Amino acid sequence: MTMTATKVKSRSLLGIKELDPSEIVDILNRTAYWESQKDKLTPVLNSHFVANMFFENSTRTRFSFEMAEKRLGVQVLNFSAAASSVEKGESIYDTVRTLESMGIDAGVVRLKPAGVLQQLAEKVQIPLINAGDGNNEHPTQALLDMYTMRKTFGELKGLTVSIIGDIMHSRVARSNLWGLSKMGANVQFCAPDNMKAPELEAHASYVSMEEALKADVVMMLRVQLERHATGILKSAEEYRKQFGLTEERAAGLSKNTIIMHPAPVNRNVEIDDAVVESSQSRIFPQMSNGVPVRMAVMERALSH
Ligand code: CP
Repeated sequence: MTMTATKVKSRSLLGIKELDPSEIVDILNRTAYWESQKDKLTPVLNSHFVANMFFENSTRTRFSFEMAEKRLGVQVLNFSAAASSVEKGESIYDTVRTLESMGIDAGVVRLKPAGVLQQLAEKVQIPLINAGDGNNEHPTQALLDMYTMRKTFGELKGLTVSIIGDIMHSRVARSNLWGLSKMGANVQFCAPDNMKAPELEAHASYVSMEEALKADVVMMLRVQLERHATGILKSAEEYRKQFGLTEERAAGLSKNTIIMHPAPVNRNVEIDDAVVESSQSRIFPQMSNGVPVRMAVMERALSH
């Protein structure tokens, strides 16, 4: 690999798995800096062009990247597959190469399949940021989750984090597992048998719902119906009874426990409506924290 290719690669963010703990700390510290800025607009990156390329739907990730980019003065190109030549059969690779040929300086990419982003990053000369690829990784979500935890507890080391729900289909669970483990937190999972991820069993143990609710952080996951083979979720009501954060279960949490969820939320399935905005919930603060996190990630991608 040439020196230039190595530099481009180090400015990409394909997954938390590839980051050192010191790089995670640097991003979180830079996030705190951006969060502390009173001015909404600090156009330090105004000569840069970034394309947000979403081949799968998004609200939070897409708009918080756009917000972050605009706050830094980046010239933003928004691409959505449904309104593009992807509909005519153009490939993901040809789409990214097209925008690269036009002169973008970095790309934010969300993809349905896992593993394709890595291959793509090896073929282009610009940094790529993973905005979620299949069930593989969602690195900026894990960074904003870790930032939210660090803001509440001061540090990540020693925290117990329970990730509850559809682990099998969750890139959020995977990125948080890699990131939190690197930072010295203890991650445990709780899931129905048909939503477990067998390949992760060497990295995190499965515990009962009762045990999971004793953690410092209770992170509920969305039941990802769009990724399910038929019949995985037999009854939403039964799921809620066994694995949902119901009002009754939330009332029994320690007062210091925080409730998280990457959203979108299936209200009254994995989490009760009344719990979503309860005093212990950090669900909307997570979304707020997504903007400075993505400012830090964008700054890292575009600094030479
Ligand atoms: N948390 C998350 O990735 O949400 P979106 O799918 O809306 O981006």
